[in-house]
Amino acid sequence: MSHDTPGSTATAAATSQQGDALENLLHENRKFAPSEDFAANAVVGAEAYAEAEADRPAFWAKQARELLTWNKDFTQALDWSNPPFAKWFVGGEVNAAYNALDRHVENGLGDRVAIYFEGEPGDTRSYTYAELTEEVKKAANAFESLGVAKGDRVAVYLPMIPEAVITLLACARIGAVHSVVFGGFSSDALRSRIEDAQAKLVVTADGTYRRGKPSALKSAVDEALANDGHTVQNVVVVKRNGQDVDWHAGRDHWWADTVEAASAEHTAVGHDSEHPLFILYTSGTTGKPKGILHTTGGFLTQTAYTHKAVFDLHPETDVYWCTADVGWVTGHSYVAYAPLINGATQVMYEGTPDSPHQGRWWEIVQKYKVSILYTAPTAIRTFMKWGRDIPDKYDLSSIRVLGSVGEPINPEAWMWYRDVIGGSGGKKNPAPIVDTWWQTETGAQMIAPLPGVTATKPGSAQVPLPGIAVDVVDENGVSVPNGHGGFLVIREPWPAMLRGIWGDPERFKETYWSRFEAMYFAGDGAKKDEDGDIWLLGRVDDVMNISGHRLSTTEIESALVSHPAVAEAAVVGAADETTGQAVVAFVILRGDAVDSGDEIVQDLRNHVGKEIGPIAKPKTILVVPELPKTRSGKIMRRLLKDVAEGRDVGDATTLADNTVMAQIAASLKK
Ligand code: PRX
Repeated sequence: MSHDTPGSTATAAATSQQGDALENLLHENRKFAPSEDFAANAVVGAEAYAEAEADRPAFWAKQARELLTWNKDFTQALDWSNPPFAKWFVGGEVNAAYNALDRHVENGLGDRVAIYFEGEPGDTRSYTYAELTEEVKKAANAFESLGVAKGDRVAVYLPMIPEAVITLLACARIGAVHSVVFGGFSSDALRSRIEDAQAKLVVTADGTYRRGKPSALKSAVDEALANDGHTVQNVVVVKRNGQDVDWHAGRDHWWADTVEAASAEHTAVGHDSEHPLFILYTSGTTGKPKGILHTTGGFLTQTAYTHKAVFDLHPETDVYWCTADVGWVTGHSYVAYAPLINGATQVMYEGTPDSPHQGRWWEIVQKYKVSILYTAPTAIRTFMKWGRDIPDKYDLSSIRVLGSVGEPINPEAWMWYRDVIGGSGGKKNPAPIVDTWWQTETGAQMIAPLPGVTATKPGSAQVPLPGIAVDVVDENGVSVPNGHGGFLVIREPWPAMLRGIWGDPERFKETYWSRFEAMYFAGDGAKKDEDGDIWLLGRVDDVMNISGHRLSTTEIESALVSHPAVAEAAVVGAADETTGQAVVAFVILRGDAVDSGDEIVQDLRNHVGKEIGPIAKPKTILVVPELPKTRSGKIMRRLLKDVAEGRDVGDATTLADNTVMAQIAASLKK
């Protein structure tokens, strides 16, 4: 099957997709300058831009030395002699876990709370830096005793519980490479990721809680490992909800028997700055998810710097809460690593925002006096729908910075976030909003305001961070003037950049570095407004963004056509008020398959859930007689998107059969 390729038509589609609202939004003239107080106490001021501009690698070298403790200092900030393969902080040796933990204890901060954990059923735990250090040392010893050595891969399939952070840091401590698979992915998805990374150990839990009900995890691991041919030798299982699990003696070990029983003495040695830290799979434009590879020194430096600068972190007084799951990159960079590197106190919550009631998040903010909240627009839009009287019942006065990530935030949601959450209780100066653009591939935030410097604008992520060279270019790679749109690119290497795709250097070059000469192509459309501020317009490729989660249209299409009743399938991301985009699938059934209406639709949804995971289940599946194709056989998703979003179908003159759209319309009316 072939598809529309990214290009000018795709940009046009991405642009038209958001229609008139976009036009209005690009003429946004509301601006909110930082209050005097905020600006006066900000950790990073305007001088950072000029400093970075003067000498980018030197700027990052300074951050690397200030923010991290190196076992061995580096001799060169950046080696870019073999693009697109960068080396940052060449010759340096550093240990991520030592930097996140031990050194804080050595510096007298052992009693500071590192994690306040709130389980969905209401159980709570907290870990001081001293306690967390001890747990990580035990886990490091336990993993080593199970044969895990430096460079080995460890697959992690855990809920949002402290053991997830402990596992990641224990891997980093011993130089093992973690590969987290989001708990919402199916056993099939887990299997393919375990196999691609050739993991030696899997760390999982019996299950977790979802909306008050226990949900299983271990059973998916069992299914993923059911056939021979994998490299997994051991499975460590955290007992989270006590549900029954199948047990494979010799392979399976309870966390309590291995980690808890291990010695709490463990010395962290330095690893090369370019030593692999983790792999995280993400959806691309072709069927198979890509294992994005991140290495140590650069990743730690940029995540720690941005966490401090963008959230204006004052670690002695702030309580930080990032609501992202550890299964996504945000849960890596801004839960497991940066906050701990910076010695912050953070909240970690296991469950959903509506369990057991729709005020749960605000109750948590009030209870822990959260001062920095980092979440996704989809959550904000959900809270808007539930109504302001819910957050209004809580004392949210502790909040002083609000972050947004994962998808464009529409100005309406931005204003609501500022007024209702940031201005709660009639605050004179509502908390500033930092809209942060970045990707699994970039490893850390790239475009965002600095809250003590930038006058923020509803809906725009605005400016590249100090030391980051972002641009918007036309299809020839020429920088567009203000007031124009095009493709988002990154012109210079950055410390947290991906170092490649696991096991596939060619795909790395092809995917990100071939569209434009000597530039990284992010896959996003963007526009510069009259002030030169950047507005993100969504993906221009076949990647969808559902509730801030990345899913590939082709991956879901492959899942659909693997069902015996389906002859052909086309998937589009249609605009959705709450989730940003929703998956809409058009399927042609095989000649011998019966269109049983709701039944087949339900069956296909479940099939996608099994192949990829519940998060990928299409919201709508439409059975159609034909799909719109060009004369060369490419499916014209743009037209399907028009249908899915309820618009009149746009220009269909390039269709091989111009009656197709009428046939689809007629079949949908039925
Ligand atoms: O399209 C952009 C969107 O999310 C994509 C990256 O997804 P992922 O790798 O899953 O990482 C998400 C969390 C960092 C981008 O290509 N995106 C992310 N942040 C924003 C955004 N779109 C608009 N505004 C943002 N702040």
